[in-house]
Amino acid sequence: MSKKVFIETYGCQMNVADSEVVMSILSNAGYESTDNINEAGLILINTCSIRDNAEQRIWGRLKAISHLKKRKHDLKIGIIGCMAERLKEKLIETEKLVDIVVGPDAYRELPLLVAEAEAGHKAVNVLLSREETYADISPVRMDKNGVSSFVSIMRGCNNMCSYCVVPYVRGAERSRNPESIMKEAQELYEMGYREVTLLGQNVDSYKWDNNNKIMGFPELLSNVAAINPLLRVRFSTSHPKDISDELLHTIALHDNICKHIHLPAQSGSSRILKLMNRDYSREWYMDRIKAIRSIIPECSLSTDMIAGFCTETKEDHEESLSLMEWVGYDFAYMFKYSERPGTRAARKYKDDVPELIKSERLSEMIALQNKLSIKSKKNDPGRIYEVLVEGYSKRSDEHLSGRTSQNKVVVFPAESRVKGEYVNVLIEKCTSATLIGKCI
Ligand code: SAH
Ligand code: SF4
Ligand code: F3S
Repeated sequence: MSKKVFIETYGCQMNVADSEVVMSILSNAGYESTDNINEAGLILINTCSIRDNAEQRIWGRLKAISHLKKRKHDLKIGIIGCMAERLKEKLIETEKLVDIVVGPDAYRELPLLVAEAEAGHKAVNVLLSREETYADISPVRMDKNGVSSFVSIMRGCNNMCSYCVVPYVRGAERSRNPESIMKEAQELYEMGYREVTLLGQNVDSYKWDNNNKIMGFPELLSNVAAINPLLRVRFSTSHPKDISDELLHTIALHDNICKHIHLPAQSGSSRILKLMNRDYSREWYMDRIKAIRSIIPECSLSTDMIAGFCTETKEDHEESLSLMEWVGYDFAYMFKYSERPGTRAARKYKDDVPELIKSERLSEMIALQNKLSIKSKKNDPGRIYEVLVEGYSKRSDEHLSGRTSQNKVVVFPAESRVKGEYVNVLIEKCTSATLIGKCI
């Protein structure tokens, strides 16, 4: 009987992609994946450290699964990913429940480490690497729809934004061999996938040196787009300091490169951006938005914003709101600043915005973004969008759901359409999160 593994994933898309790599490594070692935690002999939790509440959720989850171990004495529990990297051995020492701790660059060692744990030893590997990209590993796809998938193009981050734990838990930036990226995207297309999202913490700094012939992100992106016109290509995340006109022209040139850019501003105040070590000012960011609007007029925009960073005043906060309003984001992820131990902000600045004010500022951002999200859809009724169908809508088996190139969700009566198909949909109305229409 093969051993069964259950993987639970927290955090960003990188972790989702990594869990697929982990599953591939384990299945080559004779493991079988299961969706049923009760039948697993090995439970892996792929963790996130980005904010304190992300870690708290995972601690809560660990407590909740502790009863499984009482029932099944040979069950092994592993913590992998960013929290494993941040807390290292401490995780095993303080938490009796945990048998295995593996950081994001040591997944190839997992079968060995599980065997160690089974033999009753402490199994920890949190070494970071300058080379590891798992380029040769074909991820085991664990998405539910079979239409869209992630392809990791680089790992780590060299930016050192002062609030951010990622460079510490994911190590130095390294790009993956483009041949292996092309092969993976091509295989996904042949398996029936119709959308790939190229992933990196800062995709604009993708760089592959082949005997002094340098390939940058725009070239990689056009190559992936050239695989097939029916394969949509998305990417995340762009960094405002690095996003180039060359990239914008590449996006404009290919119909199948999606017209959506996630360009995290973090703050609208140049003073705060400087403290954040983001390497751009409000004016620079606005200039980049102007370039996007002129080169790709139909492009949608989203952002990440942090409320209540160290020393943030009411005026700084208002600059964040006015930037959001000026851009008119179609979508935004907004967070309260959470101090992460060891980061530059934690070492150098005081986390001095009171919790209550952080919450207030966050609520103001969310309220504003709700308004902007509605505004971004208000002009859509009457328009026709090409929608890639991802499956049935959450609410009804008679309706399909998919997304436009701009990443807007569209729901419409299924008729005879199926997932993976492109359908032209006439938009009839909208809610705050969804466009509703009919196929034509
Ligand atoms: N590489 C990406 C983002 C990675 S983390 C980028 O640079 O945009 C995703 C988001 O989490 C960040 O954009 C930021 O808005 C948020 N974030 C990161 N560290 C945080 C912290 N300490 N407190 C609150 N939000 C944080
Ligand atoms: Fe963190 Fe900045 Fe790197 Fe993004 S670019 S992962 S925010 S250090
Ligand atoms: Fe992602 Fe969280 Fe790690 S956001 S890189 S899983 S700290």
